[in-house]
Amino acid sequence: MILDAERGSTAVLGSDHLVTGLRAIGEPTRLRIAALVSQGELTVTELCRILGQSQPRVSRHLKLLCDAGLLQRHSEGTSAFFSPSLDAVGRSLLDGIVGLIDPDDPVMTADRQRLDSIRAERAAQAEDYFDQIAEQWESMRDRHVADTEVEARLTSIVEDHLTRLSVKTGSGARHRPRLLLDIGTGTGRILELLADRFDKGIGIDLSTNMLNLARTRLIEHELTNCSVRQANIYALDIGEDGRDNLADVAVLHHVLHFLDDPAAALRQTAFTLAPGGLVVIVDFASHGVDELLTEHQHRWSGFSTAQIESWCSDAWLQVVESHHLTPDKSSSTETLTVSIWVAVRSD
Ligand SMILES: C[S@@+](CC[C@H](N)C(=O)[O-])C[C@H]1O[C@@H](n2cnc3c(N)ncnc32)[C@H](O)[C@@H]1O
Repeated sequence: MILDAERGSTAVLGSDHLVTGLRAIGEPTRLRIAALVSQGELTVTELCRILGQSQPRVSRHLKLLCDAGLLQRHSEGTSAFFSPSLDAVGRSLLDGIVGLIDPDDPVMTADRQRLDSIRAERAAQAEDYFDQIAEQWESMRDRHVADTEVEARLTSIVEDHLTRLSVKTGSGARHRPRLLLDIGTGTGRILELLADRFDKGIGIDLSTNMLNLARTRLIEHELTNCSVRQANIYALDIGEDGRDNLADVAVLHHVLHFLDDPAAALRQTAFTLAPGGLVVIVDFASHGVDELLTEHQHRWSGFSTAQIESWCSDAWLQVVESHHLTPDKSSSTETLTVSIWVAVRSD
């Protein structure tokens, strides 16, 4: 039994699983890979640069670590990303072994230095992209209530829901990890805000540039229970890996107004929810700020509660709460109300 101190839980390993895992990690290069990947997602190319080994060799080692359930792989365009397994048992074994490595080991120290420089390169690229979009975001921020106010309300909604879930299931009676799904995660801010209340956080986005920003954020804030992946909101496959990947809370934070078909996105979101799961939609209430459509690629001028209720109802979701956060009217420009709609699976 390995104590998973950070999560305050224990993972029990069957002897077969343990032997397979130990065999996989019990080789110098694979131990180095395990130590590197446990610090955050890496591509094969990045690992080759750090290890100074060829792609076929590194790929073979990675395959063994994935087959043993210690790491997981996902593709993004032409790149394959590797991260610690989200499975509790595989993760416990990985953390347990990596935790035994002397932090001053010279090989590991040199690997870490090369990893730091690769991360610095990635962060610089992400920052360049962010600089391009930041101006647009700033011009909108002036028109609505402070992000801190919206985030405080969102956090309290999610906390109330998790409290209700704990009361319903009773402590210790949970059989599956609690999952937060941030759909259209962008820079990963919602994962940063909420993920410490969940066992796992997954962010999805279509944009590689956004995913790079989110990855940089996850590393900076050591959000080791979170990962991001590329997926289209119209074709979410999050639940396909089984019940453990169904979300207790799915958040759509300023995403729907960019979409051609919010109704389809809500239907897909509903499929990702565990029984009793919650969808929290944060978006603008109906507004008349045309500039957002003409200059900021918004597809919708916000939404009315009736519109959201109707789309939710078609997706077997029932809106149970609406919150409307309106800024101070003294502002000279036309202001934007931020609405938060909370819906539950109604089946
Ligand atoms: C304004 S950003 C919001 C990001 C984040 N939720 C936040 O509030 O900080 C909208 C995000 O939705 C993503 N997005 C747009 N269409 C998408 C789609 N079809 N599938 C997945 N993500 C999509 C964009 O790439 C972008 O990152």
